[in-house]
Amino acid sequence: MKFRLEVTDKLSKARAGEIETDHGTIKTPIFMPVGTAGSVKAVHQRELREDINAQIILGNTYHLYLRPGLNTLEQAGGLHKFNGWDRPILTDSGGYQVYSLTEVRKIKEEGVTFRSHIDGSKHLFTPEAAIDIQRTIGADIMMAFDECTPYPCEYNYARKSMEMTHRWLKRCCERFDTTEAKYGYSQTLFPIVQGSVYKDLRMKSAEVIASFGREGNAIGGLSVGEPAEEMYAMTELVCNILPHDRPRYLMGVGTPVNILENIALGVDMFDCVMPTRNARNGMLFTRNGIINIRNEKWKNDFSPIDPESDLFSDLQYSKAYLRHLVTAKEILGAQIASIHNLHFYLWLVTQAREKIISGEFYEWKNKMIKQLSQRL
Ligand code: GUN
Repeated sequence: MKFRLEVTDKLSKARAGEIETDHGTIKTPIFMPVGTAGSVKAVHQRELREDINAQIILGNTYHLYLRPGLNTLEQAGGLHKFNGWDRPILTDSGGYQVYSLTEVRKIKEEGVTFRSHIDGSKHLFTPEAAIDIQRTIGADIMMAFDECTPYPCEYNYARKSMEMTHRWLKRCCERFDTTEAKYGYSQTLFPIVQGSVYKDLRMKSAEVIASFGREGNAIGGLSVGEPAEEMYAMTELVCNILPHDRPRYLMGVGTPVNILENIALGVDMFDCVMPTRNARNGMLFTRNGIINIRNEKWKNDFSPIDPESDLFSDLQYSKAYLRHLVTAKEILGAQIASIHNLHFYLWLVTQAREKIISGEFYEWKNKMIKQLSQRL
């Protein structure tokens, strides 16, 4: 993987760059749609490519390991071959899902034992296993195995957890560096900064993570319930320490406003279930604010879903029709709303990139932030 930093904004720390992988180039800043179980929920591949113009999607180690399982993925020749997505894929390590999805789990130095949320079967994830599984999935970018601390989190717990995440990182790197990619293209490993909302821990973690000298770095443990201002304060601290010439990925973030604010602090990559999950509940993000399409006020509004959009289904279908589909729980409602939100998220980061390059980012961001949080 190669990262080329093209432009750094003069009035903020925003950056425009390019990440080169064996499955193609990713223009940053970028939003990565989440395809937990190997599919971006309710969105077809052709829509992802041509309507949304997704450049990279996410997969989850935890889900893919449980189902369809490593045997099927290996026989398919990796996730790209299995689901037909030939652009880059990033996989999360399971270091988040085992905490958020499993009820019974035990965290030890060796790793985490947990019970599957699907059938209750017992499993052990270690840093080594997380690498081996991601080798088999065949992600272009794989993530280190970490512990994502909850919010709020006691200082001493956050410190001990962060130190263990650092020891696990060492084991991840050793495994990564002594094994090979399985499918003929290269893979890379991003470590993850932790440290909850404590400045000294975040700084320490960023220094340790930077010292590993990997090709890209991630920031985890944020957007877990802390106020947005605390998230921004942590991102700012960490971005000032992580190397400038490597991409920075803020995990699990966030709202359109969160994304613009974090781009301004120097983040290059984002992922979040929000555009797809909220779409299924009828929440639409637009450049003029947020629409709850289930609201009575759209019942007889036959104007297009988003007249300013260039997306086929935004112009083809009316708000009243989409409201009907979502309230009637028609599958098409989830599809139209998911494509809409992802198209909007990709539009937003593409605009941000253009504005960074043209030198208008800071002013544009401040104007957009006022619009984006309005309720329509
Ligand atoms: N997704 C969102 N936050 C995190 C995190 O802290 N760690 C991992 N592995 N994934 C995440």
